[in-house]
Amino acid sequence: MNLKKMIYQPQQFNNLLGISGFSDTLLKNHFTLYEGYVKNVNLLNDLISTSKPGTPEYSEIRRRFGWEWNGMRMHEIYFNNITKDYKELDIKSLLYNELVVSFCSYEKWLEDFKSVGLTRGIGWAVLVKDKITNTLMNIWVGEHDTGQLADQEILLVMDVWEHSYMTDYGIKRVDYIEKFIQSINWVVVAGRYNK
Ligand SMILES: [Fe+2]
Repeated sequence: MNLKKMIYQPQQFNNLLGISGFSDTLLKNHFTLYEGYVKNVNLLNDLISTSKPGTPEYSEIRRRFGWEWNGMRMHEIYFNNITKDYKELDIKSLLYNELVVSFCSYEKWLEDFKSVGLTRGIGWAVLVKDKITNTLMNIWVGEHDTGQLADQEILLVMDVWEHSYMTDYGIKRVDYIEKFIQSINWVVVAGRYNK
């Protein structure tokens, strides 16, 4: 890996405790799971530097890295794109304008995003901007790494692994999705688009 090794530290999201629709128990468990990814990214970096290239162990560690890394970063993007202080997306924002261009209307985008979130299996619904054409797409990412598209800017992610909702919603993923939509931090998401 890197000659100069980076030690990653977990971000803190305790500011989210008390958010409507997400119990503290659910959130604290979710933070702990996230911290596990950070720990494993650091562990894998160590293992890569001490393992022998060309061995089965080395190859499996290399394969594993992407899964743990994306597990770390996708959770950071997720926790940073929800808020206690929900405000609708500004209809004068560049992001709103592009959602209308790419999906015909905000409502059609939302309908499509929710549909992606109901994809059977564990994974993520993700709104991305294509860096080449600037168009927006909703995509499904299985686990953390299957279906990630190259050269896309990630704007908004919704975790739909069961741990993200079952404590509070049982198997009613659709109810969790409705609550998630009412918790999106559009200021952060629009800022990612403007970057
Ligand atoms: Fe998660």
